[in-house]
Amino acid sequence: MKRDASVSNAALMARRRAAIARGVGQVHEIFVDHARDCELWDVEGRRYIDFAGGIAVLNTGHCHPKVVAAVEVQLRRLTHTCFQLLAYEPYVELAERLLPLVPGDFARKAMFLSTGAEAVENAIKIARAHTRRDAVIAFGGGFHGRTNMTMALTGKVAPYKAGFGPFPPGIFHAQFPNALHGISADQALASVEHILKCDAAPEEVAALIIEPVQGEGGFYVAPTELMVALRKICDQHGILLISDEVQAGFARTGKMFGIEHTGVEPDLIAIAKSLAGGFPLSGVIGKAAVMDSAEPGGLGGTYGGNPVACAAALAVLDVMAEEKLLDRANSIGTRIKAKLEKMARQNDLMPIAAVRGPGAMIGFEIVKERGGFDPDPEATKLLTTKALELGLIVLSCGVYGNVIRILVPLTASDKVIDEGMNLLEQAMKTAA
Ligand SMILES: Cc1ncc(COP(=O)(O)O)c(C=O)c1O
Repeated sequence: MKRDASVSNAALMARRRAAIARGVGQVHEIFVDHARDCELWDVEGRRYIDFAGGIAVLNTGHCHPKVVAAVEVQLRRLTHTCFQLLAYEPYVELAERLLPLVPGDFARKAMFLSTGAEAVENAIKIARAHTRRDAVIAFGGGFHGRTNMTMALTGKVAPYKAGFGPFPPGIFHAQFPNALHGISADQALASVEHILKCDAAPEEVAALIIEPVQGEGGFYVAPTELMVALRKICDQHGILLISDEVQAGFARTGKMFGIEHTGVEPDLIAIAKSLAGGFPLSGVIGKAAVMDSAEPGGLGGTYGGNPVACAAALAVLDVMAEEKLLDRANSIGTRIKAKLEKMARQNDLMPIAAVRGPGAMIGFEIVKERGGFDPDPEATKLLTTKALELGLIVLSCGVYGNVIRILVPLTASDKVIDEGMNLLEQAMKTAA
């Protein structure tokens, strides 16, 4: 493809600044021209290795040929009707393919939307319709989206909530366990019990929503003992347990859904991101008796479950099975963690700690001193910038802004993953 030499990142950034609202942030001042699997090229023809995967959307890589082929076929047949007006088969087929994947031995149903926030928002609507209660318990550090309800559920003020209130009432935040920064699973559980005692009577609580592995919050894992205890509390009081799998779902953790690592069965699961390999699609799946609680017309949306996005998702499920991406997530995780553990012992690199995460949902902390856990958000920012200069896209996250998260496509080869890890090592050397 011949490149237009007059197009540059700087020129496009100037146009962006003039035309696009400031609130729509941008991590790196790069405009992407095209991408394939784990690599992308900017408008100036520079190649990057992508360890961010469109923020957990590209577990099957950029433009997977099977996803592209399925989308091309669907594009020529039908692109939109609005499912609530006139239905189409890919929506139903996708539900049929997803339902057996929901952990638990009960009848299940699904519905589809477009964004992760919509999925969470609808899971809460369904939970309220089912229980006829209104309160919801979420967790500090959690991220659930940017709509009014999901901002309220999100447990981080800046930049997600500051200046955007008021939020709907009845949302309470418990502590998410974070052993590294002083919150044990017992303390987290006690904070849930505290809410039920001091803020909302158990019989007023519709749902408890939790990410099995916090995404934006810092790739902190919800321990099994906490999840089991939460399930017990929910069962005891008729509260529904919602697993927000928007970031952790679809093979990222080495299982289809992150909560499967705990053996706990949620009532509802919110899904999005890697479900459709780059196309806007989300959904709620779970117990049929709960899913059927809303009256006809109460759920949906003009674009929810768009046929092109559903066709993409069906291809994603095929790719996940054919390329054994659950196993691949585990082998990628083992490979990356081994390298990071080695890097943690190197004195010539910036100090890192607490390499963690199931499967290929890997995070680690940038800390002020080797052997300590004092977060260093400035060094973390510097590292992402240095990595970009070397040709590697990595993302930070975390309540303290000091976690590097790796969301490399699960379709990436060992060769390109090693190349990316070597660039990360180099960036940690230059930034040390
Ligand atoms: C766990 C979780 N829930 C919900 C969302 C919101 O998804 P969206 O940005 O598609 O609305 C995100 C996005 O990062 C997420 O990580």
